Amino acid sequence: MRDSTKPLLRALTGEAVWPPPIWLMRQAGRYLPEYRAIRAGVADFIALCTTPELAAEVTLQPIRRYGFDAAILFSDILILPWALGHGLAFKEGEGPVLPKLRDAAGLAALDPNRVAAAVAPVMETVRRVRAGLASEGFGQTALIGFAGAPFTVACYMVEGGGSRDFAATRAMAYADPALFAGLMDMLTESTIEYLSAQAEAGAEALMLFDSWAGVLSPSLFRRHVIAPATRIVAALRQRHPGIPVIGFPRLGGLMVGAYGATGVNAIAMDTSMDLAQAAALVPDGVAVQGNLDPMALVAGGAALTGEAEAILRAMRGRPFIFNLGHGIVPQTTPAHVGALVEQVRAA
Ligand code: CP3
Repeated sequence: MRDSTKPLLRALTGEAVWPPPIWLMRQAGRYLPEYRAIRAGVADFIALCTTPELAAEVTLQPIRRYGFDAAILFSDILILPWALGHGLAFKEGEGPVLPKLRDAAGLAALDPNRVAAAVAPVMETVRRVRAGLASEGFGQTALIGFAGAPFTVACYMVEGGGSRDFAATRAMAYADPALFAGLMDMLTESTIEYLSAQAEAGAEALMLFDSWAGVLSPSLFRRHVIAPATRIVAALRQRHPGIPVIGFPRLGGLMVGAYGATGVNAIAMDTSMDLAQAAALVPDGVAVQGNLDPMALVAGGAALTGEAEAILRAMRGRPFIFNLGHGIVPQTTPAHVGALVEQVRAA
């Protein structure tokens, strides 16, 4: 099912493909007028994620415009807690709002047995995107499935939404390690099932988004970022031999070296990382993905060209996937994305 001639999949097996494959985090989203048109027609964001026809359509929109080397399933990392029966709402201009999980009763209320049925529409989206890529002539574009990594998902569940510092979550990890470990275990097991189902449905690579990994101390980073990622990668490999996994331990700094031992095929670097230094910390066969500043993409012009050139220069000759260091922001001009793709294709 995986087509090893696709540039993204070649880079993920450790080949220094050049020019490097390119895709961008949040490539489907509000900066695209065709996305806003579809978004305006649905009641809420969760409805968009769980309506396969629409979710598949918005997944394909950026591929039609830019011919990226990867499509990323249109969904959200918070769909898994939603499927576990934890509440979730997206408030206009506020981001996600969830109940606060602070005790054993909150953990006991989660039900892993309802996940498979709840995420069935996501699997249908995966099948539709694979079919759409083939029928629309994007034979070189690979489909990436994803999940939030357990720690980042736990952050949103414990805080009840976004936070500047996720203080309640970090305090719980120290003060009630048994409760926190119980939550992390449940999320790790559910993530394995969820990602495995995506691979089954046709995802050709899988990405783990650990957006808040960088708020942890080194010891907690090992316990709650590296250990669950290692467990998830091992379980996925057992069920889907050869399935490539990309890890994104955002703001993990020097801990990327240790993260390299999780078994992931690639590490996505956030904008703060000096790519040449970061690459030196990562095992040789592990690809690097990243890490253009999304604000350089907003600015465009010489600033964008210069930043992209520096990344390309640093990564030539090693397995590399061009991307941003975090997601595209809504105020991005679509033409800047087109200019970036042209620059990378000409590298
Ligand atoms: O990358 C892609 O194009 C695929 C789709 C995708 C979305 N979210 C769509 C989305 C992916 C991979 C995510 C991951 C995600 N979601 C992360 C990890 C990456 C990161 O950004 O750190 C996190 C932390 C979330 C949680 C989340 N979802 C927040 C905090 C928000 C609100 C912030 C915002 O931009 O509005 C969302 C909503 C969300 N997820 C939107 C999109 C396109 C915007 C909702 C809308 O269109 O109304």
